[in-house]
Amino acid sequence: MTAWADHLSTRWFVVAASSRVAARPLGVTLLDRPIVLARMTDGRIVAFDDRCPHRLVPLSDGRIVAGGLQCAYHGWTFDGAGRCTAIPGLAPSADLPAVRLRSMRTIERDGLVWLRLAGGVDGVSNGATAGDQADDQADDQADDQADDQADDQAGLPAYVTRLSPGNRRFLWETSWSTRTVDALENFLDPLHTHLLHPGLVRRHDRRDAVVATVVQSAGALTIDYAGAAAQRGLLYRLFESPRILERAHFSPAAAGSAQIEYRYRNGSAVYFTLHFAPQHATTTRLHATLHVEGRWAPAWAMRAFVWPFLRRVAAQDRSMVERQTANASRFGRHDGLSTGLDLAHPALDAAWRPGATVPADGTRVVALDL
Ligand code: FES
Ligand SMILES: [Fe+2]
Repeated sequence: MTAWADHLSTRWFVVAASSRVAARPLGVTLLDRPIVLARMTDGRIVAFDDRCPHRLVPLSDGRIVAGGLQCAYHGWTFDGAGRCTAIPGLAPSADLPAVRLRSMRTIERDGLVWLRLAGGVDGVSNGATAGDQADDQADDQADDQADDQADDQAGLPAYVTRLSPGNRRFLWETSWSTRTVDALENFLDPLHTHLLHPGLVRRHDRRDAVVATVVQSAGALTIDYAGAAAQRGLLYRLFESPRILERAHFSPAAAGSAQIEYRYRNGSAVYFTLHFAPQHATTTRLHATLHVEGRWAPAWAMRAFVWPFLRRVAAQDRSMVERQTANASRFGRHDGLSTGLDLAHPALDAAWRPGATVPADGTRVVALDL
């Protein structure tokens, strides 16, 4: 098991595309925890520990029936709150065991299922010990607080909640054999693009003076790049027009997600958002979305023309970051040497490394040769 930073269990992660939680339950893993996602007959998605309290088989092998989620082995059935509602063969006069599956809070929005491990919907688990019950009470308190936030999109960052499903052009999912934080830093780091994606994103031999403004506020990060209205790579020349804004976003509330926002002189905007979710220490699930606002860009055209290029860039990133994670593991350490050019590193480090300090709020202006 990995030594994850405690606070990660209170953060939101994208664990599945909505479309994959359909008639059958789906097993996913987040921070080493096996979880079953099930769409109940009322359409709601619920999440439980992926084990039946009877003989501990995976509930994700089960099915959805009128009474809820039914285990594949003996048919114990659980409602949306995780209560056992039926045991086939049990005499009608016999009591059902007072078990409750440990549940987790989910949000379904814009084609994605978000999940947070701590602060379950209800906190009582099967065979709970006194310690567990204390945890459960803490969970319940956390729930109350979370309920207060529910009106506020349950604490998802604004750069996620502003995305409109109607503007989503594609949703892509895959797995990378990397540490999540390495993958996130790669996405937020422009300085590798000249060497790793030569000609596609930028060119090593043609750099421009760019000013990056890094704003750190309550753990959240934005980085504005000024001076790069145009970019020299093929992707820009084929699909973009002069920019008025290029901004990167990261918030520890959704600790595996980050976004690059591009705004253009013609009033349009493009949002490229990557959602990484750590399954284990060095395996990461990725859901990527591209949203386009205010310009002609039908999904079929994006798939036909943009997607092959982005796919190539993603393959180059994946290969490098997998090499990084694997090689760092050979040396048993992941702490590299950073300079002021590693703009996102302090915020990512604080979000992911146990015991790391959160960088002070403030604004930093950094000159880069991009
Ligand atoms: S193991 Fe699930 S019902 Fe028996
Ligand atoms: Fe890259």
